[in-house]
Amino acid sequence: MARALGASNDHRDPVVEETVGARQAGEDRFRMLIHHTPTPLWYVDARDAGEVFERLRAEGVTDIAAHLDAHPELVEIAKDIVLVTEINRAAVALFGAGAATDLIRPVRYLFAATPDMAKRVMVAHFEGRRNYVEQARMATFDGRVRDVVFSVTYPAPPEHLDTTFITMEDITERLRTEAQLRRLQADFAHAARVSMLGELATSIAHEVRQPLAAIVTNAETGLRWLAREEPNLAKARELIGRIAASALRANDIIQRVRSMAAKQEPERLALDLAEVVDEALHFVRHDLDAQGITLLRVDAGELPPVVGDRVQLQQVVVNLLVNGIQAIAQANARERRIELKIDVDGTDAVTLSVHDTGPGVAEADLGCVFDGFFTTKDTGMGIGLSICQSIIAEHGGEIGVTNHPAGGAMFRVSLPVGDDARPGG
Ligand SMILES: Nc1ncnc2c1ncn2[C@@H]1O[C@H](COP(=O)(O)OP(=O)(O)OP(=O)(O)O)[C@@H](O)[C@H]1O
Ligand SMILES: [Mg+2]
Repeated sequence: MARALGASNDHRDPVVEETVGARQAGEDRFRMLIHHTPTPLWYVDARDAGEVFERLRAEGVTDIAAHLDAHPELVEIAKDIVLVTEINRAAVALFGAGAATDLIRPVRYLFAATPDMAKRVMVAHFEGRRNYVEQARMATFDGRVRDVVFSVTYPAPPEHLDTTFITMEDITERLRTEAQLRRLQADFAHAARVSMLGELATSIAHEVRQPLAAIVTNAETGLRWLAREEPNLAKARELIGRIAASALRANDIIQRVRSMAAKQEPERLALDLAEVVDEALHFVRHDLDAQGITLLRVDAGELPPVVGDRVQLQQVVVNLLVNGIQAIAQANARERRIELKIDVDGTDAVTLSVHDTGPGVAEADLGCVFDGFFTTKDTGMGIGLSICQSIIAEHGGEIGVTNHPAGGAMFRVSLPVGDDARPGG
């Protein structure tokens, strides 16, 4: 900002002088304000880059992103010809600079930790956008790396063409707190999962016992076929095949329990919600049978993938089913059914609803069933639904409850379709 307002007034017209004086005072006050504002601020002169853009436009370039990809040297040049002309105290502090002058130089240093951003900033400028915002990292002069929200405001005629503004909001602490919170949430979900496994121990034991019993039966039968005077090898072979299959099934169950119990960083993978439900059902099948509850499952055909953590989403499904089973059991309902429906909602969400034939949620409680430690059960902890809610929120989805007109509670989960789904789940 090397504008020198009112610096050379040859004609000493008192009116002009007064106006210029007032303007000067106004500008000084503005400067003071900028200088002391807590937001780090850069004034940048990008006129030379503007000239390069004009030339490119004249040459017929319209897709600037593609052009810069083909000519990465242009981005490098821009980092050296676009100049910081003025900064404020907060900017000096953010960069841990010794003096303000350390920051008054070509903008290259602003892109040291996020080099690709320079191109995106140029593209937005070329396309005539007024603003560009990106979360970026800044390498400071004293060797730190800060996470910032980097915002550029481009000049537009008839404003001063020489001034592009850059502001940064330091969000390092916020991101750190958020990460800590996420870790805490994951730890909490893990603890709840382990406690849930404890409650489901009977069900799980039953699941494992089935293939083991089949193994024993098939082994005994096989031995009998072999003990005959003329051993029936074909039969024996068939039975050994079945034994192997049962052993694999038992192994699968143990693996599932292990991953439920394991403490691992939540993953983000493309998942088929129907598969997640299949796996979750293994945990509650015995409880459903023991309570004489029929599970009605309705799946929409082809489901788009959701992105998330398989185990956490299984945990949600298991929690909802366990609640449904408990509601039906507690009320000793005559009709004993849980309807589980998976559907698509438009093109951008997959939904799961769990509707039971229990007594439903008391009207007064509808607003608080998702609160931590809210329970109406003698032995309940009241964490099942609060965990479900935080898991679903973490996945960018929503969960809600209504009482179904036909009776019973209906929980509905909606998860965004993962368009950035990475394969390899
Ligand atoms: N399917 C349902 N039908 C009726 N009420 C329900 C149903 N699901 C949840 N609730 C109500 O919401 C409360 C909170 O549920 P939540 O799963 O969070 O805790 P909990 O089941 O009581 O205990 P925990 O899950 O920690 O063992 C329940 O105590 C119950 O009052
Ligand atoms: Mg519960």
